[in-house]
This record gives sequence, C-alpha cells and structure tokens, in this order.
Amino acid sequence: MLIRPRRLRRTAAMRAMVRETRLSSSMLVYPVFIREGRNIVEEVGAMPGQKRYSPDEFPKALERLANVGVNNVLLFGLPEHKDEEGSGARLENGVVQQALREGKKRFPQMLFITDVCLCEYTSHGHCGVLKEGVVDNDPTVELLAQTAVSQALAGADVVAPSDMMDGRVGAIRTALDKAGLTDTAILSYAVKYASAFYGPFREAADSAPAFGDRRSYQMDPCNAREALRETALDVAEGADIVMVKPGLPYLDILKAVKEVSPVPVGAYCVSGEYSMIKAAAMKGWLDEERVVCEAATCLARAGADILITYHAPELAGWIREGRV
Ligand code: PBG
Repeated sequence: MLIRPRRLRRTAAMRAMVRETRLSSSMLVYPVFIREGRNIVEEVGAMPGQKRYSPDEFPKALERLANVGVNNVLLFGLPEHKDEEGSGARLENGVVQQALREGKKRFPQMLFITDVCLCEYTSHGHCGVLKEGVVDNDPTVELLAQTAVSQALAGADVVAPSDMMDGRVGAIRTALDKAGLTDTAILSYAVKYASAFYGPFREAADSAPAFGDRRSYQMDPCNAREALRETALDVAEGADIVMVKPGLPYLDILKAVKEVSPVPVGAYCVSGEYSMIKAAAMKGWLDEERVVCEAATCLARAGADILITYHAPELAGWIREGRV
C-alpha cells in the first residue's frame, strides 16, 4: 500500500501538526444577560451555569472572562418596564447602557457588542412594533436605529441587530454616521432562522412572544439560497460582520455563507444547543468538555471566524490547555 492516511494520525504531535482547523480564544464571544436592579446575580433556570447580572455586578462577569482570556462580550438587556414600543431599549440610562458604562470603565480593552432588538423590551415580546397584530417593518427599523445609536453612545464597539427587519442594517449605518459614530461596527444577524433552539434564551431574556411566533420575520429553516440573499443585502447595506444562527444544525448554511461573504462570518451556538449539552452532561450521558470542543471545532471548520457561545469561558480554558 502506497498511501496510508493513518500515518498522520499516529501521535498527538502529528495530529496537531497537520490539523486543518485551529481554535483561538480571540474568536470567542460570550453572551451576557443584564437585568435591572442592584447587587443581583441570578441563575437562569433553563441554562444551568448561566446568570443574569445587574449592571453593577457586570464587571464581576467581565473579570472572570478576562482571567480566562475571553475579550468579547455580547449584551442582552432585561428592563424593569416593558411597553408596546419597547422604549426601554433606547433610554440613555437603559439597563444595557448602564452596563456598558460600568464595563467600559473597568475593562476598556474588552470588546463590547450589543444585541439590537426590541423583543426583550416589548410587552408583547415581538421584535418590533405591531400594527394589527403584525410586526410593522419600517417604523420598527426607525426604533432599532435609535436603539443602536443609544448603545453606541453608551460605549458599544459593535451593534448587532437580531430583529430580522428588512433594511435595518442600512438604517442603522445611516443613523450611526449621522450621530458621528462612524467607527461603530455592525455585526448583522444576517441569517437568522425561526428556530425552536432559542427556547431557553426566551426564559433567560424573558422575551417569548405573547402570541404567535416569529416566522413572519425570521427565516424558514427549509431555505438555504435565501441565506445568500440575506447576506448580500446586509453586506450591501454596510454590515461589517455577518452571522449565521443557530449553529450546529445549520453548518451547510454557514459554509455556503462563508463561500460568498467578503466580510468575517460569525456563528451563534444558541441557548438550545447549550442547554442540550448541559442537560446530557449533568445526567452523565455526554462528556461536556469533549462535546463542546468538538462542536466548536466543527463550527470553525464549516467557516465560523467568530464563535458566539455560552461555553466561551470553559472553551477558552480548554483551548489554553491544548485540549482542543
Ligand atoms: C433577540 C434574540 C434572540 C436570540 C438572540 N437575540 C431570541 C429570538 O430571536 O427569539 C437567541 C439567542 C439564543 O437562543 O441563545 N431577537
């Protein structure tokens, strides 16, 4: 036999040398839930190990991340009061805005990304304002742009619209530029599917829609070519980074987007993916470390330049120890 592929699999050093995919903690982004209040750190029931922090406690989360070498965070806010128009999202002293100021002060070297959406702030839980029970695109885009500007003024380095309204990336870019925020980057949730894998997040962020679902604005899981259309649109509107979401069940989409995207591509390993692994690990049915390392590797192999994951702190440790 002339060719024996097993030669390159013989030892750990050999396998490490010929590896096609390598992870780095600089690619990791950790999502953090910020809730109104003081001195609060509370567990998220459906996501064991994940917490909600009040703005004053947020630096504690950042300290833990800094210690393990995770430099990038993605903020979600849970306001005290919700209303029809999600006005809490764009308040100068909103919950995310407060956290940004606290965080930036203590950890200026870290990168602060903010989720731009209204679902955590609306009384009905939909991602925009309603007209006759349907999310009304254009007025919502206006409010999202105001939200992004408000977050950028409070210190966000990157704003990440996750609402899936049409035209929001362009509107956000225009609004940021008009406010003199030309250096604030846009990470677009360009390819976001209407997924049941967001279930645990909706408990964490208290953002489940009070009626109906999100299928009139998020993408149909049956569609792949549409992902390329969404990517092209958002890039044309000024997205600096695009993202595919969820992660593992959508590797084909991630790969297709990576092939056409001129900008960096992120993958979001969502709450349901986290909770499935966590639940199985807690039962002793899966080896959490190995499964998380393998999943992250597969997402990177499929094309993720950036990986948003609730396992970021653990993963960073495993990367540092050379376990992956
Ligand atoms: C807000 C938003 C959601 C997620 C990120 N941003 C929920 C949703 O669209 O219903 C999901 C994140 C996760 O499941 O980890 N629109």
